Amino acid sequence: MTPRFLTVRLPCSLWFVLLFAAGGLVLFIHQQDLSEMVQQQGPEFFKVLFPLPDNIPTMLSLSSSIASGFFSPERWRKLSSILEARQQLMKEICAKYKSSISKTITRHHVKHIFVEDKYKLLYCQVPKAGCSNWKRTLMVLAGQASNTQSIKHDTVHYGDHLKKLDSFDRQGIMHRLETYTKVIFVREPLERMVSAYRDKFENPNNYYHSLFGKPIISKYRVNPSWAALKTGNGVTFKEFVQYLLDVHRPVGMDIHWEQANQLCNPCLIDYDFIGKFENMEEESNFLLRLAGAPPNLTLPSFKDRNPNDKRTSMQITEKYFSQVSMLERQRVYDFYYMDYLMFNYSKPFKDLY
Ligand SMILES: *[C@@H]1O[C@H](CO)[C@@H](O)[C@H](O)[C@H]1NC(C)=O
Ligand SMILES: *[C@@H]1O[C@H](CO)[C@@H](O)[C@H](O)[C@H]1NC(C)=O
Repeated sequence: MTPRFLTVRLPCSLWFVLLFAAGGLVLFIHQQDLSEMVQQQGPEFFKVLFPLPDNIPTMLSLSSSIASGFFSPERWRKLSSILEARQQLMKEICAKYKSSISKTITRHHVKHIFVEDKYKLLYCQVPKAGCSNWKRTLMVLAGQASNTQSIKHDTVHYGDHLKKLDSFDRQGIMHRLETYTKVIFVREPLERMVSAYRDKFENPNNYYHSLFGKPIISKYRVNPSWAALKTGNGVTFKEFVQYLLDVHRPVGMDIHWEQANQLCNPCLIDYDFIGKFENMEEESNFLLRLAGAPPNLTLPSFKDRNPNDKRTSMQITEKYFSQVSMLERQRVYDFYYMDYLMFNYSKPFKDLY
């Protein structure tokens, strides 16, 4: 998923700005209506798709998934209530911070959302939170592959197989936002950030080392070697943190370490399903059953990047953060604070405030 997302689609967005200007007030009023409709979608989804077990007979996918042993009715009910609580919390946080958030959905807000038209899913990609495996699953749902095992890593990331929501016209975007199941999966923010650092800087990666490594080393390393400046190899975790916290970053942000709420705009787009990487397998399969996916389709558990590296855990995260000062740790936490709040993650270290 490397180079494609970094190329800014200027022509597209410019076009949109022009369209916007031309549409004027009428379009604006129309949009307000549409965003409100999208906002109202959430609870309806749970009423329809998350019924308690006495509704089972009317719910084909639900009954068959319980019957086929995917979930006990108790577990189904428990997951439903967990997911509903996450949505509720999101609503509360968004209401609290409302004044600072614009109400109009633009193309820019939906550029990380993948579209699966057959099962009517919209999946907002948060890299380092299981997105490759979800992209594989979406490709199988779309009929582009017969099973997730047969899709190679490069096909997932560089093939142009899945459509992005921003590739549709305004009507196509709004129609899908109103009627499709909107999904996001998130991960403990600091763990995700460490995972991104390890993936992009500790392993050979010409693209990232050249685009990010070189300016990072050049700005933050005292007496860098000629080789380090030339290749951008060997960015330390501390240097990466310095870059992240710098208000005058020598190079912009990247989707792998951008805040999840910035990528997916959950206060603007009312996600029906807020899943967590920490319980990825069960929650994904829950969602697949809700969506009525073929019963033999479950989320795969490939580790695409650097399969020999240990998956980043909180223990590993702690080890990396022991390499930076207490103040830097605090500031990285502050940087991801809205993700902590919106997705209900608790403080990762005791000494944070
Ligand atoms: C937030 O997380 C805590 C523990 O991690 C949990 O007990 C609580 O139910 C969660 N709240 C919501 C709204 O999900
Ligand atoms: C599910 O079963 C169908 C029919 O047996 C088969 O064609 C398909 O490849 C299977 N899908 C997966 C994801 O294994």
